[in-house]
Amino acid sequence: MKIGVPKETAANERRVALTPEVAGRLGKSGLAILVERGAGEAASFGDEAFQAAGATVVPAAAELFGQSDIVLKVQPPSPGEVRLCREGAALVAVFQPSAARDAVAALAVRKVTAFSLALLPRITRAQAMDVLSSQATVAGYKAVLLAAAAAGRFFPMLVTAAGTLAPARVLVLGAGVAGLQAIATARRLGAVVSAFDVRPAAHEQVESLGAKFLRLEIAEQAEGAGGYAKELSEETHRRELAFIAQHVKDADVVITTAAIPGKRAPLLITGEAVQGMKPGSVIVDLAAETGGNCELTELGRDVVRNGVLILGPANLPSTLPYHASQMYARNVSSFLLHVTRDGNLVLDFDDEITRDTCVTHAGEVRKT
Ligand code: NAI
Repeated sequence: MKIGVPKETAANERRVALTPEVAGRLGKSGLAILVERGAGEAASFGDEAFQAAGATVVPAAAELFGQSDIVLKVQPPSPGEVRLCREGAALVAVFQPSAARDAVAALAVRKVTAFSLALLPRITRAQAMDVLSSQATVAGYKAVLLAAAAAGRFFPMLVTAAGTLAPARVLVLGAGVAGLQAIATARRLGAVVSAFDVRPAAHEQVESLGAKFLRLEIAEQAEGAGGYAKELSEETHRRELAFIAQHVKDADVVITTAAIPGKRAPLLITGEAVQGMKPGSVIVDLAAETGGNCELTELGRDVVRNGVLILGPANLPSTLPYHASQMYARNVSSFLLHVTRDGNLVLDFDDEITRDTCVTHAGEVRKT
């Protein structure tokens, strides 16, 4: 069976779905790996490295899609890429079907068996395939570096001949995978870190990283299926906004990461709360792509209000393409080995992982 890795075509996407190391391992397990020329270049994986690992480099996307039984991508396929897919082939990428309706419909028409790793169940068996977690780790780390670079102050406390400088106070809102990595990174840089999340389980995790957990009494159950957060009631959300507005006043840097799967990101920082912040402080809104946790966030732009800088970066994992690709490739290869046996695609819809991730099959849309 031939596994194809095209060059990503989305703007500003520097990751690649397989690295030479992982391609080599898959090759040894009996799969033939095809890589489009230059596919790994932006992530510093050259064609020669893929060749040395036993992969075949093909000159163009049309040839790659035409020959591949399973195509591995990072971003959802463009209309042009769907047209290049062989009828009956399979494709693996990361997308929310609700946000990629046209691509999903086109994949079904083409009878492609498409999987989205954004739909993986959060179960122990699927941990090695969990691209959302691996890429959120990259985003959480990079968010802190962006904030540190943009802030007009040091993160650590410094005792110098020019006097003692106070450490930066960093507040992390949402302590899932990205938030916990942001906490760890800010702590490594010497900041004083506090964090908030609506899930009670986050409390212990935040404290284990040496940060202070900010407590808001929430009467309702804030944790839903799979350990994910649920949307809060209007009353609790109103209390949450007031609570956060109090705490952002003291922060030099705020990193927001709150998300509800498949929904618009919850609003955590109102424009009024930004008014209460200190001039020179920085907000990095990791939820910019799903609507933003801060009311003033603009996706992909730097906004200054009241002396507060608000960054709404798009696709942060792509800005660390080497390691983001390495993690992605390991995840995607675990998934690939899960859905193939003896060189054939095996679709067992009684298996939770296969059932949850399969978006289109045999001309049918299975997930909307
Ligand atoms: P996420 O990226 O979906 O959301 C980020 C964080 O925002 C979550 O911690 C969530 O509780 C928080 N949040 C949502 N609404 C909020 C609000 N209104 N105010 C403050 N915070 C809010 O989360 P992520 O990183 O994907 O993790 C979510 C859950 O999944 C966690 O319980 C995590 O432990 C679990 N998980 C399980 C895995 C497994 O078992 N294989 C793998 C990775 C995560």
